[in-house]
Amino acid sequence: MVNSLQITDSRTQKQYTIPIENGAIRTMELRNIKVNDDDFGIMGYDPAFMNTASVKSKITYIDGDKGILRYRGYPIEQLAEESHSFLEVAYLIFHGELPTKDQLDEWRSNIMSECFIPESIATILKGFDLSSHPMGMLVSLLGALSTLYPESQNIHDPTIRMKQVYRLMGHTPTLCAMIFRHTKGLPFQEPNLQLSYSGNFLAMTFGTTTVHPVFERAMRVLLILHADHEQNCSTNVMRCIGSSLANPYAAAAGATAALWGPLHGGANEEVLKMLDEIRTIENVPAFIKEVKEGKRRLMGFGHRVYKNYDPRARVIKQLAYEVFEVTGKNPKLEIALALEKIALEDEYFIKRRLYPNVDFYSGLIYQAMGFPTNFFTVLFALGRMIGWLAQWNEHITDPEQKIARPRQVYVGYDERPYIPINQR
Ligand code: SDX
Repeated sequence: MVNSLQITDSRTQKQYTIPIENGAIRTMELRNIKVNDDDFGIMGYDPAFMNTASVKSKITYIDGDKGILRYRGYPIEQLAEESHSFLEVAYLIFHGELPTKDQLDEWRSNIMSECFIPESIATILKGFDLSSHPMGMLVSLLGALSTLYPESQNIHDPTIRMKQVYRLMGHTPTLCAMIFRHTKGLPFQEPNLQLSYSGNFLAMTFGTTTVHPVFERAMRVLLILHADHEQNCSTNVMRCIGSSLANPYAAAAGATAALWGPLHGGANEEVLKMLDEIRTIENVPAFIKEVKEGKRRLMGFGHRVYKNYDPRARVIKQLAYEVFEVTGKNPKLEIALALEKIALEDEYFIKRRLYPNVDFYSGLIYQAMGFPTNFFTVLFALGRMIGWLAQWNEHITDPEQKIARPRQVYVGYDERPYIPINQR
């Protein structure tokens, strides 16, 4: 067999031929490698799934070595620069093709008509302390949506599935805006369907009827850049929860919870905390020294897949200058640029192939636009919602998939008898 692995088991001298397809082997084939008929067979042990493909997907392609990111084959740089609508890119990610004008109009109408949030959700939101972390509120409210739409449990019905996609895409910007305003003790603002998806979100958030074109474009580009990123941690959670046939609101709440972590989407918040702690350019060398001593992490740097500059970070860095033209330069930019310069020339970072990722510069823009640091990951979730939904939909309709249930390598005790407490 041409594309195959030849394996010899030194325990039995038996030989096995395992087919290679798409650069991978089906690890279930390893289960045929046994020492006797009672043997369970060989498993693949892969903590953190460093080298495990759990799905086949057509949505997003990343080449980490070359710093390439494409949604359905279209380079992210072109989509960020050329697309005049986040919902156009959202349609592409979900349906797989760029929409015609009629398709985009229908998609937009179905989503924007779902921007209105039932009053019961506002009541729940008002129960949170104003100081509650916005991500904790978003996770809770996404889960709460499942109680309003019990029909969403019928996920194998394509019409019902699409309705939940429209609802989550329409509800999420309004939820995010309401959370922002709740933390400020401000009244909620109704959606304005005359505005774009990005513009409506900003208007609901800041309580305006119009939006500065530079901010609208910046928000649109940031949503496009954050929309999907193949099998990242939170998308893996979305698919895993979806694999048990739970409803999409429960899955989206779980994915949002995973995104919150400081090693994942929470990094954009951590970057600003890091820049605040460094405070001046003079302190940068001492901070880098601590990083190299393993005492700190340079937040916003490094990536499991990218071993080159994250193409999204390059676009965001350029976008920051456009926003600062309007807002005035964020003084922390100089510190970020100094960190990047040193890191890109230092052997510690070069050897480990650590480059700025999507989270390194995004927070500087969010802060300049008026968002508090603890709201940055909410903005990440707002962009990523379509990616989670597209990946979830692909999972639900993949005939090869079933409930996700990994195995383990058991290294605990063998059988042992119970010992009464008076004998311990
Ligand atoms: C996102 O997966 C995705 O696609 C995620 C994402 C998406 O769009 O969904 O791209 C979004 O989550 C971006 C990443 C945001 N996180 C951060 O910026 C947090 C800081 N970065 C890291 O903690 C780290 O780089 C990860 C978590 C992003 C990746 O970690 P890995 O692949 O598990 O690598 P590792 O932790 O095993 O590190 C390998 C080496 C180690 O050094 P040694 O033990 O070999 O000496 O690199 C070092 C690490 O100490 N290292 C860093 C570092 N990241 C890795 N050292 C200093 N600063 C860092 N940021």
